[in-house]
Amino acid sequence: MKPSKAVGAADPWKECLEAAVELARKAGKIIKNALTEEKKVSTKTSAADLVTEMDHFVENLIVSTLKEKFPSHKFIAEEATAAGSKCILSDSPTWIIDPVDGTCNFVHRFPTVAVSIGFAVNKELEFGVVYHCTEERLYTGRRGQGAYCNDKRLQVSKVTDISKALILTEIGPKRDPDTLKVFLSNIERLLGAQAHGVRVIGSATLALCHLASGAADAYYQFGLHCWDLAAATVIIREAGGVVIDTSGGPLDLMSCRVIAAGTQEIATFIAQEIQTIHYSRDDEN
Ligand code: IPD
Repeated sequence: MKPSKAVGAADPWKECLEAAVELARKAGKIIKNALTEEKKVSTKTSAADLVTEMDHFVENLIVSTLKEKFPSHKFIAEEATAAGSKCILSDSPTWIIDPVDGTCNFVHRFPTVAVSIGFAVNKELEFGVVYHCTEERLYTGRRGQGAYCNDKRLQVSKVTDISKALILTEIGPKRDPDTLKVFLSNIERLLGAQAHGVRVIGSATLALCHLASGAADAYYQFGLHCWDLAAATVIIREAGGVVIDTSGGPLDLMSCRVIAAGTQEIATFIAQEIQTIHYSRDDEN
């Protein structure tokens, strides 16, 4: 993470960003050490929507530490929401946390797992921190100050033509036949438009960070959550990319759907091409 130039010592959220970085690294180390150990696995909204004791442990660690430091702040966190907490983004400083993004990968020892911590004030995303636990890569984005992977400044790709694009997506939790049909037909449409390839890596937030790094040209998904998306959205925007709704309109963080791309041209193309898979909103649950 590079020191701030634009906002400098006057940055009101500097202490928060530093706390997020420290916690993401600490949690990431714990997750990495547990990757090859036995896990107790449960399911949430579907048989493919997994949760482990590690998700709860790491979420408690992050949330309790931040609550102590910043008692007036609000929290939206994956496992608290699964347990019934309301997912409300108000104007208050709000932390948006996914303790283990890529839980299914974690369960299978597939080494693509991240901690994701986003922070919003007045409903505007201020910074995002994503830590790739096994490769020990720290992605950060601070509004107005750029995005970094460790100390390297990130820049999205400038590809505008779908026939030169590598696209990332994720499956989401639903597995009913109608959902799978649309999911596969969306991939078919993009491959039919001669995209170079479509990849599914099992962590929405890390896929979005690959996009921010210029290692892919676009990402789209239905069925992800605000905690998968919040931190990476700042990172992508600060790397010069676009993050929009699947309709082609502005991003709605609570809508459980997204298109992100290095260029507006690719984002618009995908918005016109793909069909919607319906998920309920995060703030409706
Ligand atoms: C999930 C992963 C997965 C994506 C889901 C996410 P989790 O997050 O990122 O790849 O398909 O939509 O919710 O449950 O591992 O934190």
